[in-house]
Amino acid sequence: MILTPSMTGIASPDPLQHAFKVKSAPHAGRGGSRPVFLEPQQWQQWWQQPSQASERALYIHIPFCRKRCSFCNFFENGTNPERISRYIKNLTEQLHIAADTPLAQSRGFNTVYVGGGTPTDISSDEVKQLGEAISRFPLVENAEVTLEGRLNGFDDDKWHNATANGFNRFSFGVQSFDTQVRQAAGRFDDKDFLLNRLQQLSQHPSASIVIDLIFGLPGQTLDIWQQDLQAVIDSGVHGVDLYQLIGLSGTRIEHAREKGKILGTALSEFQADSQTRANMYASGAHHFEAQNWQRLSSCHWRRDSRERSIYNSLAKSGIEILPFGAGAGGSIHGHGCMNARDLKKWHQAHDEASSPNERITDDSKANAPVQVPGMLMSPNPSASLDAIFKRGLDSGQLDLNLLQSSMALHLTPLFNAWRANGLAELTQNQLNLTLAGRFWNVNMQTGLFEFLAENPLQPKTSHQQTHSPHAIAS
Ligand SMILES: C[S@@+](CC[C@H](N)C(=O)[O-])C[C@H]1O[C@@H](n2cnc3c(N)ncnc32)[C@H](O)[C@@H]1O
Ligand code: SF4
Repeated sequence: MILTPSMTGIASPDPLQHAFKVKSAPHAGRGGSRPVFLEPQQWQQWWQQPSQASERALYIHIPFCRKRCSFCNFFENGTNPERISRYIKNLTEQLHIAADTPLAQSRGFNTVYVGGGTPTDISSDEVKQLGEAISRFPLVENAEVTLEGRLNGFDDDKWHNATANGFNRFSFGVQSFDTQVRQAAGRFDDKDFLLNRLQQLSQHPSASIVIDLIFGLPGQTLDIWQQDLQAVIDSGVHGVDLYQLIGLSGTRIEHAREKGKILGTALSEFQADSQTRANMYASGAHHFEAQNWQRLSSCHWRRDSRERSIYNSLAKSGIEILPFGAGAGGSIHGHGCMNARDLKKWHQAHDEASSPNERITDDSKANAPVQVPGMLMSPNPSASLDAIFKRGLDSGQLDLNLLQSSMALHLTPLFNAWRANGLAELTQNQLNLTLAGRFWNVNMQTGLFEFLAENPLQPKTSHQQTHSPHAIAS
């Protein structure tokens, strides 16, 4: 049995600060899938087949931003009205075609996420067009429909068109309310503007307003972080995500770090190290829980039940997600798919598919959206097991009854090491992450997948497998 510190963390009097050295990656995952090539006819057939999924989503990607923020590497294309309008035209055409297919019509969609980039940078009329296109899909009653973006440029006109056309959840990147910190990170607005606008939007009778904050930005001292946390409460929003700054390659922050510099503010060169970020996470968790906010995942809290976070929670369960747009990712008939980011090639695929010659030679093209360049993966053989691990560890509670008893027993050494290192508590049927475990949960997920790769569980014959409660707490 191979057990390494990258799986278990290390023993420390302060596991929150020291169980691991640094957050390993934004998300955990494991291999097991390989790229597959799909013939155009097979792609057509896919859209004629009903879905086998019990829950599913649409993901629509809007790959434009007005400015590259210092911490982010999601920037793909600069915002430009003509460029966006061409993109939205092709995108909505494809959504209309897809919505009529047997695959789309075969079952309801629980949630829709329009993400980016900065979807709020599209025009008010385009928000309406997108809302109308989404409404052609069979959404379940009270489905969650999210528009992601930022407050800057999201004027009353866009807001009214969005709420009037089906959007009922808004996820705005705030990052930090502190004017100096946010402007040093490349953001436009000051704290007063953000607070006023969020207070206005949060008055809506039913829409859920949620915001993202990052802890660890240059210039963001512990004091400023406390003020950020208080500003969340003052803003009246219904939910918040607290993300630890990840040093993403290609960002301005990383370039500066490689040269031994910090992109601080005029007032401060401070940049929290991993231990300080751990404390920032803990103060965030205490802050919201002291105000009776409910924790929905390791990094997401809600003020009340209006906020549901359905997309984020289902996406971790490996559900079917039909992806649309350049750079969109999802899963169709169990195959992971990632559309290429290259906008030019994405448009080319549409132009070719809608050229008169193509239409005459192949009428069936209109029965499926265009197959755009990208990657398709074979179904992950352990998708449902991985979903149990990811969802459980991300929520902070892994229900051991969901595992086969042989798997729960196999993982006992790892679970015991996590417990010894202050990352988890074990009961008869449940593994509960401590505050430290929730902070390090992505490392733990990565560690668990590494453990299974190093110590594969030998398959048993079917009569040896049982589902039963497990007496593994020792
Ligand atoms: C894809 S971005 C879209 C947000 C939106 N365009 C905006 O400008 O606010 C989604 C979120 O990812 C988070 N994010 C981006 N870069 C990050 C990083 N390096 N570390 C942690 N979180 C990051 C930010 O909180 C951001 O709001
Ligand atoms: S934070 Fe938003 S606006 Fe800034 S680069 Fe990333 S996606 Fe674009």
